[in-house]
Amino acid sequence: MDVIRSNQQPAEEPMLLPEGVKIDGDTGEVTPATGRYVKHLSSLRDLYEDTAAFDAHLAAHGDAVAYEVVEYRPEGSDICFGTTIMMPGKIGREYFLTRGHFHAKTDRGEVYYTQSGEGVLLLHSRTGESRSVSMRPGVAAFIPPDWAHRSVNTGSEKLVFVWMCTIDAGHDYGEVATRGMRQLAVEQNGSAALVANPKYPS
Ligand code: F6R
Ligand code: ZN
Repeated sequence: MDVIRSNQQPAEEPMLLPEGVKIDGDTGEVTPATGRYVKHLSSLRDLYEDTAAFDAHLAAHGDAVAYEVVEYRPEGSDICFGTTIMMPGKIGREYFLTRGHFHAKTDRGEVYYTQSGEGVLLLHSRTGESRSVSMRPGVAAFIPPDWAHRSVNTGSEKLVFVWMCTIDAGHDYGEVATRGMRQLAVEQNGSAALVANPKYPS
């Protein structure tokens, strides 16, 4: 006969508690944060169209931080958020950018809410469509599931935005690292313009 002992019940997950998280819209600081990382320019070399301009930039200005990501990712939660803080600058005609990615889980979207600075969010679907959303304070960009997304700082100040997604969305960097984005954000006659990426495979 089976004996049922009450102390053999599976342990319950600890209850998640509500919390107010301060986000500084100018610096992008998140308090409290659960994690952060920085990307230096040197790790982004292959993303830019003009590698000669890239090498000249690094030789002249050193290996500066290009962007930083600060996260609030509570363990056991289904959602998370954080900030991305992008420095201003250009490599040749191309503005500073993030790596860009699809989500590993193809049914997971995201929201980017710009706090300060100005930029553009480049997006493309797997079926050949490209879109862009202007990143300005007060604009929330809706990123549907299975659209690649890359942020570009087209301004002269930091670009700070809040991102929010499901905690299990994950990142798939492979396709954008190999093929690039369909569009580039470049300076043309003193202002930002989007042009077709000449290296994107047809
Ligand atoms: C998460 C997300 C952002 C980016 C961040 C850096 O899904 O979209 O948190 O990860 O802006 O961009 P990547 O990851 O493309 O270098
Ligand atoms: Zn994302």
